[in-house]
Amino acid sequence: MLNILTEKFPKYSKKLDQILKPVEKDLSLLEDNLTGNLYSGNSDLDKMVRYFFNSGGKRLRPAVSILFSKAINKGHLLPDNFELALAIEMIHTASLIHDDVIDNSETRRGVMTLNKKWGAKTAVITGDYILSRALTRLISINTPVAEIFSKTLNELCIGEILQKNQNYKIISLEDYINKSEKKTARLFMAGTECAAVITPQANNLIINAARSYSLNFGIAFQIIDDILNFNGTLQQIGKPVASDLKNGIITAPVIFANREYEEKGDFTLKNLIDRKFRNEKDFERALRIIFDSDGINKARILAENYIQKAISSLDVIENNSYKQALIDLAYYTAERKS
Ligand code: IPE
Ligand code: IPE
Ligand code: MG
Repeated sequence: MLNILTEKFPKYSKKLDQILKPVEKDLSLLEDNLTGNLYSGNSDLDKMVRYFFNSGGKRLRPAVSILFSKAINKGHLLPDNFELALAIEMIHTASLIHDDVIDNSETRRGVMTLNKKWGAKTAVITGDYILSRALTRLISINTPVAEIFSKTLNELCIGEILQKNQNYKIISLEDYINKSEKKTARLFMAGTECAAVITPQANNLIINAARSYSLNFGIAFQIIDDILNFNGTLQQIGKPVASDLKNGIITAPVIFANREYEEKGDFTLKNLIDRKFRNEKDFERALRIIFDSDGINKARILAENYIQKAISSLDVIENNSYKQALIDLAYYTAERKS
C-alpha cells in the first residue's frame, strides 16, 4: 500500500507569498471582498464574521482554484471564477467554525475560537450564516457549479461524522484516507473542478487533471496537517500540540506507529487508546511510544506520494507560471510548518 518513492523528494524552501506571486493581485482583491460580501447589517453577526476572517488563514483553496483557472485560460481569470474563489473560502471558513464546535476546540489560528469566545450556539449560527452567503455566490454562477458544491458539502459532512464515529478507534489506513478525502480534499477538488467546468475551452482531459491534482493535493495537505499536530509548535499550528491524539482522533502517524508495534506483538499503544487515556500519564505514554516509532516518517512518505501524484496530474497542462505555482504549492505543502 505504501510505495517508497523512487525519486528523491526535493527539499523545498520557497515561501508561500513567493509561490503565490502570480495571483497576488487576485488574492488581494479577494481579501477586500470577503468580509464586505458577508456584511449582514446585524452588528453581532458582523462582529463575529470580522473576528474570524481577520484571524488569518492561508486562503489556499481560493489560491488553488484561481491558479488552476489561470493556468488553463492563458492567464485570464473569468469573473465567475472570482465568485467561486469567494464562495470556496466562505465554505472553508464555515467548516472550520463548525469543526471547532464539534471538536470543542479553544484555539484556532492562535486566537480563541468562536465557540470559546461566544459559545457554541453563536458559532453554529455564524457558520450557517457564512454558508448561506456562499450559496448566494454559487447560484449566481451556474447549475453545474452549485451541483458540484452541493455534493462536496454532502461529502464534507460525511467526513466529519466518520471522524466522530471513529473516535479512539485505530482505523485502517484506507478508512483514514477515505475520511481525509471527504472532509478536506473534496473542497479543494470542487475549486479546481469548477474552475475547469466554467472555462469554455477546457476538455475532459483538463477536467480530469483538475480533479486529480486537487484530490491528491488535498489528501497530502491533510496528512501533513496531522503530522504537524504532533511535531509543530503551539505558535506554528495555532492550537495545542497533539490535541488530535488527546481527543481520540487517530491519524496517519498513529496508524503507522501502531502497525509497527503490533507487528512486534506489542499492543501497548492500542490498549492506551482503547481505554481512552485514563489519565494524563496514559496520554504522555502513548505520545512517547508514537515519537519512538517510525510513524511520523512513514506518514510523511505517504504524503509525499500523494504530492507526486498531484504534480504528475498537471502533465496535460501547458507550461506557464500558474502551473509552476501549482507545482510549487504541492512541494510547499510537504514542508509547510503552519
Ligand atoms: C485547516 O486548513 C483545516 C484542514 C483541512 C487541515 P488550513 O490550514 O487551510 O486553514 P487556514 O484557513 O489556513 O487557517
Ligand atoms: C478541519 O479538519 C475541518 C474540516 C476539514 C472540515 P481538522 O480537524 O483536521 O483540522 P483542524 O486541526 O481542526 O485545523
Ligand atoms: Mg479540528
